[in-house]
Amino acid sequence: MSTSVIKKIVLLFLSGAFLSYSGFLYTVMPVKYKPSKQQEDAGKLIWQDYNCNACHQIYGLGGYLGPDLTNVYSKRGEEYIKTFLTTGTGAMPVFHLSQSESNSLLAFLKDIDASGKSDPRTFTLNYDGTIDQ
Ligand code: HEC
Repeated sequence: MSTSVIKKIVLLFLSGAFLSYSGFLYTVMPVKYKPSKQQEDAGKLIWQDYNCNACHQIYGLGGYLGPDLTNVYSKRGEEYIKTFLTTGTGAMPVFHLSQSESNSLLAFLKDIDASGKSDPRTFTLNYDGTIDQ
């Protein structure tokens, strides 16, 4: 068999593999559509306005001065978070949030908490390398 025929066979095989894997990803694992939630969205803006991400991570991304807050809502509860925000610690600043800002921020953290886990030790790996959430 000539080299150009072998090249065409390899190209066909790779194209076929690419197309079938893409088809698999788009049909088996469709992106879940989530309607926008007003209070949670407002909470996300407060998270950004007060730059919580400079010191905290969500899904492992962000600053590393403070802990990851992806699952802080279920781990610590609302009262704990509110207390942390109003009293602070040596390293965590005090935030003077209004009642509605505080509620929105908590709604945002609750939503993030329900969306997945951030601790890699709790991940379950699927056969195709994806993570079961
Ligand atoms: C200047 C850095 C900094 C910023 C900005 C910051 N934090 Fe923190 N935060 C920390 C540090 C450091 C800790 C750990 C403090 C400790 O344990 O004494 C912490 C702890 C916390 C905790 C407790 C976590 C736990 O599991 O005990 C919560 C909740 C929290 N921060 C929420 C927030 C929110 C919400 C914002 C934004 C409004 C924010 N932080 C902004 C530094 C920061």
